[in-house]
Amino acid sequence: MNMKTLAQRFVAVLGVVAMLGVAGMAFTPAAQAQQINPTAESVTEDALLQALQEGDKIEGRVSIPDDLSSGLIKPGNASWASTHTGTVRFLTIAAVVGAVVVLALFYMIRGRIMIDGKMSGIRILRFTAIERFAHWLMAGSFIVLALTGLNLVLGRTMILPWLGEGAFSTITVWGKVAHNYVGWAFMLGLILSFLVWVAHNIPNKVDAEWVAQGGGLFKKGVHPPAKKFNAGQKVIFWATTLGGAALSFTGFMMLFPVLAGTQADWQFYQLIHGIVAAGLSFVIIAHIYIGSIGMEGAFDAMGSGEVDLNWAKEHHSLWVEEVQGKADPADPPAKGTQPAE
Ligand code: HEM
Repeated sequence: MNMKTLAQRFVAVLGVVAMLGVAGMAFTPAAQAQQINPTAESVTEDALLQALQEGDKIEGRVSIPDDLSSGLIKPGNASWASTHTGTVRFLTIAAVVGAVVVLALFYMIRGRIMIDGKMSGIRILRFTAIERFAHWLMAGSFIVLALTGLNLVLGRTMILPWLGEGAFSTITVWGKVAHNYVGWAFMLGLILSFLVWVAHNIPNKVDAEWVAQGGGLFKKGVHPPAKKFNAGQKVIFWATTLGGAALSFTGFMMLFPVLAGTQADWQFYQLIHGIVAAGLSFVIIAHIYIGSIGMEGAFDAMGSGEVDLNWAKEHHSLWVEEVQGKADPADPPAKGTQPAE
């Protein structure tokens, strides 16, 4: 083999090695990455998303009756979500903080409302077992709904940072399940409470007198007359009945969007649900206060069902007269009370 042939073979080998090298490089990760050529679809999709305006939407087709589930992408939903969340968050914080501040002030000024006379030691039945069952079914379920609802509205900003993602997601997932199912117990309690109490909650002229005297809430020794429920309690009853009905209806629609109509209707129900929940929470926090620590002897009515006779005479003088037949002349109505209408 002469030198020329040797040189030619050497160049050929170098060429093969070079070709193998280039081919090898094509299979290194860097080269693979360079080779990825984003598909036309993903590029188009990205451009499409960028181009979508507020009122636009991308919809698919569904064979189930729920048209709302065909919506795929709708930028308007993001701005709706932030408007809705902002409004409901603000009202919820205002309701809870507002109620606590008002009650704290009331407690500091008025203190606990005590029975003026001594306890008589005589107990009279105020609420039957059915009435208490209806109340506690409604109250217990409302408290579960209020706490789990509060977590849905404020949890991500207020609870997640100190509870951590794992624990927060667990309580939120279970909370959401509880919220969806306990709603039915609330509706049942609401209907039962309405049936057992509506007759006692029709406004009458005794209520005007009660309101004129501030319900005796702001001055010791003042006890305006009242039947089974005074004007303040009637406000609680109707707020619970109407607010509870609104929460039930809007909650039902959110659970079954197929019945809700258009998406705008669904969003309207969602907003009303949050606003009514905040308002009713304010009322109920005040109610829980006055039914427990705020007034001596009040809790017994819903605990054992029996209250002290003197408590009853001070707060519901006309009702005592009704249940006792007619007031005993030797046992005049409590100080500050007026004759029956
Ligand atoms: C721990 C929570 C609660 C306590 C301690 C409590 C206590 C009471 C008490 C003592 C009464 C009878 C007052 C009386 O003798 O005249 C009452 C009545 C009532 N409660 Fe509650 N309650 C609670 C929660 C709730 C909740 C969550 C609701 C509604 C969702 C509610 C709705 C009512 C209604 C409508 C009445 C009849 C009207 C009235 O007395 O204001 N309660 N409650």
